[in-house]
Amino acid sequence: MSPTRAGEHPGTDAPGPDLPRLDVRGVSKSFGPLDVLRGLDLSVRPGEFAAVIGPSGSGKSTLFNLVSGLDAPDAGTVLVDGAPADLRSRQVAYMPQKDLLFPWRTVLDNTALGLEAQGTRRREARKRAVGLFEAFGLDGFQGSYPFQLSGGMRQRAALLRTVVLERPVLLLDEPFGALDSLTRTEMQLWLAEMWQRYGWTVVLVTHDIREAVMLADTVHVLSPRPARVVQTIEVPLARPRGLDALADPAFAETERRILDVLQDRDVLPDRHVPQDRDVPQDRPAEAGIR
Ligand SMILES: Nc1ncnc2c1ncn2[C@@H]1O[C@H](COP(=O)(O)OP(=O)(O)OP(=O)(O)O)[C@@H](O)[C@H]1O
Ligand SMILES: [Mg+2]
Repeated sequence: MSPTRAGEHPGTDAPGPDLPRLDVRGVSKSFGPLDVLRGLDLSVRPGEFAAVIGPSGSGKSTLFNLVSGLDAPDAGTVLVDGAPADLRSRQVAYMPQKDLLFPWRTVLDNTALGLEAQGTRRREARKRAVGLFEAFGLDGFQGSYPFQLSGGMRQRAALLRTVVLERPVLLLDEPFGALDSLTRTEMQLWLAEMWQRYGWTVVLVTHDIREAVMLADTVHVLSPRPARVVQTIEVPLARPRGLDALADPAFAETERRILDVLQDRDVLPDRHVPQDRDVPQDRPAEAGIR
């Protein structure tokens, strides 16, 4: 890919200054009797780094499936640059929660796979992927197989496969969830640098409050299922952010604000009727459910 300058948005013409890149409005989604999302609103500006944080099973991956056009909401709209989300319009590059590399393909063939799957000729796909290897710290490993890479390198390769599609919105579903804490911190610093360099619009799902504060401009906190955004918190830390940011009192204050929202009993659904397999029928008052 031709390197995209910070502030440019790969894949489409720049939208108007007031038009959100991603606009999720009043989205609801159920699977049979299971209410997963209810009236969820979320908006992301071009070039913004947004984080979505919420309890396990609250519907974060479901939200990404709707934004990417893999699934459709029951109610509400998902707009990317003003147009309804649609898998065929290729507005969104999605790195799913378990993005595995194929063990029998080389790293280069793995990273070119997304482009090939969308119809780019193999030669061109490989050329574009190769162009990113150095920036992704994978130079020299084009011909290696995934088992020959460290965990962090595998995640960077999976991310490269997503980013090389050059789409206006990048969805990253817990990209560092499986990494040890040291590698995870390294990857966070690296991702922050790459985001700044390429000007991507990113939505990151994470369970890790520190990761959200370190990386994001804006943190959207979800309620438990049926999920909605209960609070949107702006992160008041300067860029670029390195490890020094951790020592900034504003860092801890923001972590605390997010934690308070996550623990606030008021964010829990007040008319929750325990009807799914997660909550035993004979213990409806447990798990903080009012
Ligand atoms: N296709 C589906 N059919 C039926 N139920 C589903 C489907 N997809 C998700 N669910 C259910 O919807 C709920 C939300 O799932 P989802 O994967 O979106 O949660 P999550 O917030 O991403 O969780 P985690 O943090 O653990 O990744 C879960 O109870 C899950 O079982
Ligand atoms: Mg998930």
